[in-house]
Order: sequence, then structure tokens, then C-alpha cells
Amino acid sequence: MATDYFRFEGISFMKNVHSTEILKTLQDEFVVRDGDVITLAYPKSGTNWMIEIISLIHSKGDPSWVQSVLNWNRSPWIETRIGYERVKNQKDPRMYSSHLPFQLFPKSLFHSKAKVIYVIRNPRDVITSGYYFFKALKCVQTPELFEQYLECFLQGNVFCGSWFDHTHGWLSMRGKENFLIISYEELHQDIRASVERISHFLDKKLSSEELNSVLKHVSFEVMKDNKMSNLSLIADEFMDHSKGKLMRKGITGDWKNHFTVAQSEAFNKIYQEKMRELPQGLFPWE
Ligand code: PPS
Repeated sequence: MATDYFRFEGISFMKNVHSTEILKTLQDEFVVRDGDVITLAYPKSGTNWMIEIISLIHSKGDPSWVQSVLNWNRSPWIETRIGYERVKNQKDPRMYSSHLPFQLFPKSLFHSKAKVIYVIRNPRDVITSGYYFFKALKCVQTPELFEQYLECFLQGNVFCGSWFDHTHGWLSMRGKENFLIISYEELHQDIRASVERISHFLDKKLSSEELNSVLKHVSFEVMKDNKMSNLSLIADEFMDHSKGKLMRKGITGDWKNHFTVAQSEAFNKIYQEKMRELPQGLFPWE
């Protein structure tokens, strides 16, 4: 396991990005406001895609904002040292993002009307995406071999802890009026209907021209070339851009090119055991 992590309440965080002090302050003191729009996701589930969608809905399809302001300034990553400072200085209406598990999120959320969008993705694709991306991050040591990374993931011995716990935790909010769950797979299958669903949830009406512009600018092809959104401007101190990138493949089902039959069977067994309490049909990949 990587040495560049520290544990906070049993969950792994990155030493040079997070701090115990901020994680504690966030949990107990940070005040979520009713007008906040929060993107939540387990890492590699489509966080940045959602930030782009929300940003473009906010600007009514006008791309100038997403083309001129970095995504981590538009929707700061609240639990990081830098992101926390940015959120504190944001004016209303605020947008911010988080990978935090349910139990570590600011408690004030649960008494607020802030709108929360939780993005979920087939965990097999989350593993595949993470295997490549975390190798490029200098702040974590990722196992060289896929089988080793898969093992760490299954043990929850990765950044942000267990995918199973994260999903269980946040899904306990399902059914709440201010909580929208949307999957990477749905975005992929029907981005038009998904953006309409999200804009409806955010009470933002888009004309068909505005909607078309949102759709154009959230496409993989356009986002991949937008330096404000593709994380290519992350400082070299944090990321070795020759080793991996955010906008890798942008597809569903790439896990099939990585899991052996035995790994897939072993994963299914663990998945069924850990997810058995949730109702069938909740996830598009089942
Ligand atoms: S991170 O680093 O945890 O915040 O990563 P996250 O943004 O959650 O997830 C990265 C994956 O999302 C894919 N992505 C997209 N797919 C399709 N269309 C668009 N517009 C898009 N934007 C991001 C990205 O390619 C990563 O998936 P993989 O499978 O690695 O390609």
C-alpha cells in the first residue's frame, strides 16, 4: 500500500493534498448553504463530466466560462487544502465537489436544502479508470500490476476507501428531494435526456439552442481538448502527465479488456455479497 496516504477515520487520503485538520473542520464546522450545488462521486465515476454539465447549465450553454476558468475553480474540490480555501471565498450561488464518503461530509448538509448530485459508475470501470489515472499522480504510489490494484480496491485500501461503503453511505439519501443519483452509464446512453434531468433538478430551464450548446461542450471530444476541464494544467509537482490523463477513453465496459475471467467471477461474488441489501435494478450495470 502506498506510503503517501494518511488515514482519517479509517479512510485513505493523500498527504500533500488533504489534511486531518481540514477534514475535521469540514465535518463539524463547515456550513452548507441552501443554494449550494454539490457534485459528489467516488473517484473516477465521472466527477469532472458532471462539473462540466453543471457549469454549462449554469451559463445557459455559453461556453466562455468553461473555456476561461479552470474546473477546480468553478467547482472546487472541497476537502483539499486549496479547494477548501476557494470554497470559503466563493460567492453565492456556490458550486463545489467532493469525493468524501457520507460519514465524513459536513454534517450541516443534512439540515440544508443544497442540491446534491451523486454520480455512480460500474465499479469495474471505476477500477480500470483508477488503475491508469492514479499511476500518473505523484502523490500516490499505485501498484504496477492490475491484479494488485484490484486487490487493494477490493480491500478498500485505496484513496477514499471502499467503493462499496461509499455507495451504501450516499445511497441512503436516495428518495430525498434535494438528492439526485445519476450514473455514468445513463450519461453515456442518453446525454440529452440526462442533461434535461439535471437542469430540471437544478430548476434551470434551457431553450433548445442552449441545450444543444451544453451537449456540444460536454462531449468527450470537446472536453478532452479543453485545458480548463481536462486536468492537463495540474502542476507537474502533482502529476506526471506522460503517465496518464483524465480524459482517457470515456467509454463504458472497458473493464472487459482488463479483468480475467477468474477476476470477473471473484469480483461478482464479492459484489453480490456486499450489495445484497440494496434493491435489485438500482444500477444500470447489473
Ligand atoms: S476524478 O479524477 O476522480 O475526478 O475522475 P472522474 O472525473 O470522476 O472520472 C474520470 C472518468 O470520466 C471520464 N470522462 C468522460 N467520459 C465521457 N464523456 C466525457 N465528457 C467525460 N469526461 C470525463 C474520463 O474519461 C474518465 O474515465 P476513463 O474510463 O478513465 O476514460
